[in-house]
Amino acid sequence: MNESVPTHLSRSGVSLVVGRDASGVPVVLHWGAGLGDVDDATLLALEVARRPGVSRSSYDLPRRTGLVPDGTRGFSGTPGLAGHRVGGDARAAAPSLVDWTVERDGDTLTCTSVDDEAGWQVDVELALDEGGLLHARTSVTNTVAGDLHLSSVLTSLPVAAHATELLDLTGRWCKERTPQRHPWVQGTHRRDARHGRTGHDATLLLVAGTPGFSFGAGEAWAVHTAWSGNHTHYAERTPEGDCLLGGGELLAPGEVVLATGETYRSPELLGSWSPAGLDPLSHRFHAHLRAITPRARTERPVIANTWEAVYFDQSLERLAELADVAASVGVERFVLDDGWFLGRRDDTTALGDWTVDPDVWPQGLGPLVEHVTGRGMQFGLWVEPEMVSPDSETARRHPERVLRGRAAVPPAWRRQQVLDLQDEAAYADLRDALLALLDELDIAYLKWDHNRDLTDVTHDGRPAVHGQTLATYTLLDELRAAHPSLEIESCSSGGARVDAGVLARTDRVWASDTNDPLERQHLQRWTSLLVPPELIGAHVGPPTSHTTERTHTLRYRAATALLHHFGIEWDMTGLDETALGELASWIELHKRVRPLIGTGTLVHPDHADPAVLVTGVVAADRTEGWYVVATVASTDTQHPAALRLTGLDPDRLYRLTEELPPGPGGADLTDSWSASGSTLTGRLLAVAGVALPVLHPEEARVLRVRAVDA
Ligand code: GLA
Repeated sequence: MNESVPTHLSRSGVSLVVGRDASGVPVVLHWGAGLGDVDDATLLALEVARRPGVSRSSYDLPRRTGLVPDGTRGFSGTPGLAGHRVGGDARAAAPSLVDWTVERDGDTLTCTSVDDEAGWQVDVELALDEGGLLHARTSVTNTVAGDLHLSSVLTSLPVAAHATELLDLTGRWCKERTPQRHPWVQGTHRRDARHGRTGHDATLLLVAGTPGFSFGAGEAWAVHTAWSGNHTHYAERTPEGDCLLGGGELLAPGEVVLATGETYRSPELLGSWSPAGLDPLSHRFHAHLRAITPRARTERPVIANTWEAVYFDQSLERLAELADVAASVGVERFVLDDGWFLGRRDDTTALGDWTVDPDVWPQGLGPLVEHVTGRGMQFGLWVEPEMVSPDSETARRHPERVLRGRAAVPPAWRRQQVLDLQDEAAYADLRDALLALLDELDIAYLKWDHNRDLTDVTHDGRPAVHGQTLATYTLLDELRAAHPSLEIESCSSGGARVDAGVLARTDRVWASDTNDPLERQHLQRWTSLLVPPELIGAHVGPPTSHTTERTHTLRYRAATALLHHFGIEWDMTGLDETALGELASWIELHKRVRPLIGTGTLVHPDHADPAVLVTGVVAADRTEGWYVVATVASTDTQHPAALRLTGLDPDRLYRLTEELPPGPGGADLTDSWSASGSTLTGRLLAVAGVALPVLHPEEARVLRVRAVDA
């Protein structure tokens, strides 16, 4: 890089400009709207134009926040870096990062600074990917003799001051990813997650936008920390005028100690910018996640999962019958959930003993696998590798493998504890047991569960979450390397492990343990802020939800799952021919939409009535779009406001139809546009919209638009 000319990275309508302040420290001059082709003179002019004055009652230099927010230069917010050295060493506790080199390699910038006095080398990598998503990462190397104890390595990105409203997500078991919004005022809004897993309440994204931003309107910026252990996201406004979105791993004292020459690399902080609401913001994350989950690029097989169908009541006879019914309605992958392994008759025992229970499966799982594959379906299996039941052969034989932070084991949580994956023997035995299963049985898919927070746990006297998270990643990597076509689902008491770190190694997430479609309408919508729809598992459960006792029609349940990775979690063996026929029609409908789901664009057209939620997928070439319109309460008005369909080509003419498999409530739409088979331009559909029929609360409609010239 020419020392004086700022560096301009620009892709997919996004620009990042990194310049230098008066003392040569790299600063982000702009992250947001694409600036087009700008020459050096313009970039220099931008730097001059963005140069601040010298504040009163302050340091005597124009103050700018560098790439690493740093108190030694007058930044009063959260320091990007913190650490210490033990003993009588006179070295500085925190680095002062003044001399920087900036190297550009294509669309990646690496900015490096070494503080020899404190013994810190810091590298900040910034890269814009093809879809305009910003990848940022901070690394720290200990350059001098003696241990460097790290307590915080955060990466942050400045956003425009006119982004004055914040959105983040929270949640709990069966209600993951609930949005919360508030004005972005001075101070720090921090979302720390200390569950030893991503967490049911993990925010996924922290978004800052112009007031009132929605899925389709408002300028917005967002960050995501790609990590499955303890982590944070924060938004910070300082009295000096900084507006930062940041994140990183949360490190416990003593968790990361760097010996001389050792390096800590932070997880990636992913940053997205949108000129027009949340949908375009999400598309950049979706493009990235699609690129790193290559096995999920094929059309996702329709799943039948046995959990809510049989729970622990497993037998070859019962499951073979369920598999027969599943195959007859069009299921393509049959997943045997919890309860198949040694002594696992309920959820109180046996985690860690990953061999097939001969009492329940006297001939092993082979006959069931053959039965399933013989009917043209793939076979999938539930495992919970990181856990161990105190009542298990593994815990009895190797009590030292149960992760703990003191002599006593941590309090019980679903009667289970965590296996110490940093214990080499524990890791090796677990890996070998899983490989033995994969080698012996024709397993296409693992549902990988994780049903406990990690509380009060250490390994070799150090807090264990960092190492445990890395060990889990290594285990996933090893299994995938040994079985390249194996797909893995990330489940964690439902949706407590949803993040871009785990999705670099898995192929879909289980969004929640609730199959109640009303809950799902909300939580799938917000999960898709980060995760593309084909990577979000969505199952049709029984009419009355096991987790809420609400009852819904098949139409509402199936339409809610339609645009995601579709599955069934329901004892279908008791259904009559008519009911099975209706279910089969929904699966058939899903298979018609499916080619678009993993390749198209997800949209959430804003609707004036909060009771109406609209979810759509539009083909990449915009020849076709499918939309699910669902009410989540009673509409405010008798006739709901017009439905505006976004994502289409404004200049193309489309025909709009309603697509409904047969079944109750499906055939009585007489007073709407669909009866006349209207054709309208994409522009009219987006800006004027079409009338909706009168809708009941908790009713769903499926609409299809198809370009007339396609
Ligand atoms: C967790 C999962 C469920 C199911 C059970 C089995 O709760 O989230 O989907 O697999 O475990 O015990």
